[in-house]
Amino acid sequence: MRPRFFLAFACSATLLAACGGSAVEEPVPPPRTAAPVPVSQADHERLAQQLYLAYLGRAADPAGLQFFAGASSRAMLPMDPGAMYTRYGADSGLRQVLDSLANSPEAFALYSGEHEAAVTAMYRNLFNRAPDPGGLAFWAGALANGILSRGQVPVALLAGAHSDDLRMFERKAEVAAAFTTALDTPERAAAYHGEAAVAALRQVLGKVTPATTETEAGALVQEALAVVAASPAFPRVQAIVRARCVACHSVTPTIPGFHGAPRGIRFDTPEQILADARRIYVNVVETQFMPYGNQTGMTQAEREMVRAWYQAGATAGQ
Ligand code: HEC
Repeated sequence: MRPRFFLAFACSATLLAACGGSAVEEPVPPPRTAAPVPVSQADHERLAQQLYLAYLGRAADPAGLQFFAGASSRAMLPMDPGAMYTRYGADSGLRQVLDSLANSPEAFALYSGEHEAAVTAMYRNLFNRAPDPGGLAFWAGALANGILSRGQVPVALLAGAHSDDLRMFERKAEVAAAFTTALDTPERAAAYHGEAAVAALRQVLGKVTPATTETEAGALVQEALAVVAASPAFPRVQAIVRARCVACHSVTPTIPGFHGAPRGIRFDTPEQILADARRIYVNVVETQFMPYGNQTGMTQAEREMVRAWYQAGATAGQ
């Protein structure tokens, strides 16, 4: 218990900078006090966007933004990362929100591997830079010893950030928010789906610097929209099928009442999706018979995505 207590003390909101291994001669930032009780929906949306960036290194999609803004409001999350870090242990609602991001399949894919690789990826997502050796050793060590969980490290890093790191994160969050806001047509929202589109967006966010001006930020948003729209369609179709179909069409359906894939049709692998492209297209776009009773909430934009992919030839390369 002692090390845990020590760390909680040493890494309290105001002192976290020291835990990040920053140079000793840097001025200690003034203590950031917790913001007043969060009130507006806009506050929760801004926080949700920051959490996406901190935990997944990307802008939120419109649906995800609404979901996490709602979760933030219900859990009454503080707007201050230092307060989030210190409350993580005692506040189960807050812990659930942060852990649901940190333990998502997407975060696992992003931060797979050793603790050092995970910490390096977190620094890149937050600050567009590699960690300094001291910071790397400290945070990887805390993860390895089980003193901190992966759900805690991003808010801890953020709470300790100052000067360029803090500006960098804020600029990235602004670009990310403007990008999400720009996903204002069904086509644009559907395009930001799947690994290839998300990877393309991350690359553009990697170009943000602390000195990025408003004009440059606007240009980056336009660039992000373009690269996302140009990213291959098949990964997006796979992501859509995973989200909307495999709850039933799988060896192991997860929707109550379904035991085994309906009519033996399964979409667990890319090959199965490719082989059934025509039937998928007919049932999703033409008859809209699927998803069955639309129990998985497929959107019109997603149907359009399937149409575009099918009409372009329905291969893995599209
Ligand atoms: C809630 C469960 C559920 C979901 C989700 C679901 N399906 Fe189905 N699917 C069924 C059932 C049940 C049948 C059999 C319907 C019947 O035979 O009347 C079926 C049948 C089908 C068929 C065969 C239809 C035919 O007549 O040839 C295809 C193709 C299909 N689904 C594709 C999809 C696709 C693609 C998705 C995702 C966009 C999807 N399904 C989502 C339950 C589901």
